[in-house]
Amino acid sequence: MRHLISPLDFSVEELDKLLELAGDIEKNPEKYSEICKGKKLATLFYEPSTRTRLSFEAAMLNLGGQVLGFSEATSSSAAKGESVADTIQVISCYADICAMRHPKEGAALVASRNARIPVINAGDGGHQHPTQTLTDLLTVKSLKGELGNMTIGLCGDLKFGRTVHSLINSLLRYENVKFLLISPKELRVPDYIIENIEEAGAEYEEVTKLEDVIGELDLLYMTRVQRERFFNEEDYIRLKDSFILDRAKMKLAKDDMLVLHPLPRVNEISVEVDSDPRAVYFKQAQYGVYVRMALILTLLEVEV
Ligand code: CP
Repeated sequence: MRHLISPLDFSVEELDKLLELAGDIEKNPEKYSEICKGKKLATLFYEPSTRTRLSFEAAMLNLGGQVLGFSEATSSSAAKGESVADTIQVISCYADICAMRHPKEGAALVASRNARIPVINAGDGGHQHPTQTLTDLLTVKSLKGELGNMTIGLCGDLKFGRTVHSLINSLLRYENVKFLLISPKELRVPDYIIENIEEAGAEYEEVTKLEDVIGELDLLYMTRVQRERFFNEEDYIRLKDSFILDRAKMKLAKDDMLVLHPLPRVNEISVEVDSDPRAVYFKQAQYGVYVRMALILTLLEVEV
């Protein structure tokens, strides 16, 4: 039985196969519409979500399966003090696979060690968000044709942004990827991620101004400042509008630079950018359904 806790749980070859399957699902959705009949997905969300939870549910429904779960800790017995380890043992009696989001780093790993069903980490605190990374990789592969040979700018809250940590770790496995890490000093990428970049021998630079580097980028990955992870509101207010991507900044970018964002967006991308063909963040959300369908099939070992 396999779980997905970190984006590195799949080898590059396995990841290629998963993305290929997601591509086939996109082209031939009817072929997969009954393939999970009789199977159930549990979504255990101890933190708010729109895309991840609903795209997992849409994915299982598209495969002909069923879904159950909770969308906040307060409506589960976590509110009475039940542990993740106990909850997952019980959920293993009700469902065939589960996706879990939890504010504590490592919660999904704890769940996987106590589960009798595959566990998918749908975000654990400020740590990792592997299925967002699968979504990001499918988006880039589909729209750029490859995952290497690019300069990627990651901009915003690189300290708490778990999608950034997962994406950097994953892209380090591809050739010739350069990282421009664009953040205020207080929201720099954590040291352990910098160590990973250095160990992999990848090129990187830390900068504080988006307009200084936007012209070099093949991909711009914008992120929201994560209010819920700040210890005090004053710091959040001071830093929240550090970067705003608008039409003027887009004029400085290459014609084929793609703008991705895991969403939700707050102020960091002006709505005037939405109509720019280089802005692909809503398409990215659609790719999230295909890749989660492929992931469910892979972890359930359904023959396709
Ligand atoms: N991208 C993402 O994780 O969005 P949600 O928080 O809405 O699930």
